[in-house]
Amino acid sequence: MGPYTDLDRPPLAARALQRALVVPGGLWRQVEVVAETGSTNADVAQAAKTGAAEGLVVVAERQVSGRGRRSREWVSPARAGLTLSVLLRPGTGDAERGWPGAPQRSWGWLPLLAGVALAEAVRRVAEVDAGLKWPNDLLVAGPDGSDGKAAGILAEVAGDAVVLGVGLNVSTRVEELPSTTGLPATSLQVAGSSSADRDPLLRALLRSFARWYGGWRETGGDAELCGLLAAYRAGCRTIGRDVRVLLPDGGELTGVASTVDGDGQLVIRSADGVLHRVSAGDVLHVR
Ligand code: BTN
Repeated sequence: MGPYTDLDRPPLAARALQRALVVPGGLWRQVEVVAETGSTNADVAQAAKTGAAEGLVVVAERQVSGRGRRSREWVSPARAGLTLSVLLRPGTGDAERGWPGAPQRSWGWLPLLAGVALAEAVRRVAEVDAGLKWPNDLLVAGPDGSDGKAAGILAEVAGDAVVLGVGLNVSTRVEELPSTTGLPATSLQVAGSSSADRDPLLRALLRSFARWYGGWRETGGDAELCGLLAAYRAGCRTIGRDVRVLLPDGGELTGVASTVDGDGQLVIRSADGVLHRVSAGDVLHVR
């Protein structure tokens, strides 16, 4: 018997992915598929420190110390999902492509951009109804109609580079999903996806990301001008909901999420009518 006893979880076709995604003039320069690593975000941050160029992608078939937002961990069985990180250098102008450097204050849009690309790819390939919980948790509705979190995104700044990591549960079974205190975890398969094939999902994700990133870079990181703000608002299921936000300083805010502004901040109207802008926090959809 071969090493892949879990026949519903075949390995990624590394060479075919590289051929399909690394094309002349494209964003992606190298797609590395590794059998096992601690954290792809840590690997790509290390590569960034040693001068790796924008467009490096590292995908792990198994991650043993996956990192989540706010010091949480990201746990996923081998080949049950996609765990990958990409290297971006948004502040560096690119004369060949006619991209100016995007100012650092615009970089906060990158994890939201990744969320838009991820939701687009999942809708198209897995044919499930996917949306986003601000800032960038991917929500899919389970068999009972209630939302679960199928993916998360972690952005980390490494010098003048940004490392964007995506963890997506694809064929993870209910009993393998981590138990969480907030939103329940789910996977595309649990949510009734038409396919658990990771190769087309990865291709769709990286292609969609490259398209949105190219548009955003062309406009010097202007989320409104390149259409990203509108696309984010259209896919964000937090807008219009009653929310409770746990703030990084330990504080809490409740109210109605009225919109996401041009800086990617969540705008909340509290009961007294005051508008609060939140740039980081954990959102709970109350109703
Ligand atoms: C979150 O929702 O908390 C974000 C999870 C991000 C997980 C991904 S998996 C690939 C990449 N490498 C990591 O160590 N983390 C991200």
